[in-house]
Amino acid sequence: MADFLHVYDTPPEGANADWTIPQNWEKFGENDHQMWDRLFARQSEMLPGRAADAFLRGLDVLKLSKPGIPDYRELNARLNNATGWEVVAVPGLVPDDVFFDHLANRRFPAGNFIRTPEQLDYLQEPDVFHDVFGHVPMLADPIFADYMVAYGKGGLRSLGFGALDHLARLYWYTVEFGLIEQSDGLRIYGAGIVSSYAESIFALDDPSPNRIGFDLLRVMRTEYRIDDFQQNYFVIPGLDELLQVTVETDFAPLYAKLENLPDIAIADILPTDRVMTRGTHNHAQRAGR
Ligand code: PHE
Ligand code: FE
Repeated sequence: MADFLHVYDTPPEGANADWTIPQNWEKFGENDHQMWDRLFARQSEMLPGRAADAFLRGLDVLKLSKPGIPDYRELNARLNNATGWEVVAVPGLVPDDVFFDHLANRRFPAGNFIRTPEQLDYLQEPDVFHDVFGHVPMLADPIFADYMVAYGKGGLRSLGFGALDHLARLYWYTVEFGLIEQSDGLRIYGAGIVSSYAESIFALDDPSPNRIGFDLLRVMRTEYRIDDFQQNYFVIPGLDELLQVTVETDFAPLYAKLENLPDIAIADILPTDRVMTRGTHNHAQRAGR
């Protein structure tokens, strides 16, 4: 989930220079596959009517309903055919520049382990269920696939401006926790939501969080939390609009502007916001935040 936290600076023993490792699918045991199936069944049952059409189409095109942790040889044949993307295995979180370089080249790095039963509902580091079930279906959508490539290139560029923290918020509030307005209602598409049972319900139905129309500069100013449900969700009008505004905007002047703009506190609403839900923030208050 927190794709921007990392611990090591050089690839661990046995990893390639780009931090990839062989998936080594055969090494997953019966328990690992059962954990995938359990998580898959729980999510796929509740997602129709909640997840974005693009996400549900991706599940279908990639045949992710096949039991067990997906074998990347098979999954990548389908994904590559759809959008030219592939999934590569990594031991855990990778450095930012390595991560961006993979995205810019249509490779999505996925953690090569699966959570334990004790971690069913929450774990700090992204596992194969979060990374593959959460992220990969959207990568089968041609528009979103292009957005992620552009994001990778933009990420590499942001490093030269010292603007990674601002750009990371864009990833957080779209790729991880984005909502989309479809003609038939609000839907979830962010991987952090669709891979979480509780947040898939919370993000759409709970009165606690704000739901605010997407605005690029606003998003890049907004703080976020990594250890609980979000207090804000930003709603895009469509994937085309997201791709268009991010690709056609030169971020360099935005980064310059952001240096002189204060961050927006986590639950604040601005007079300029297009507010869809003004949150009660009851959840956060109960949690003592
Ligand atoms: N247009 C952005 C830039 O000038 C790059 C970017 C594209 C960033 C898409 C994020 C998403 O840096
Ligand atoms: Fe993620």
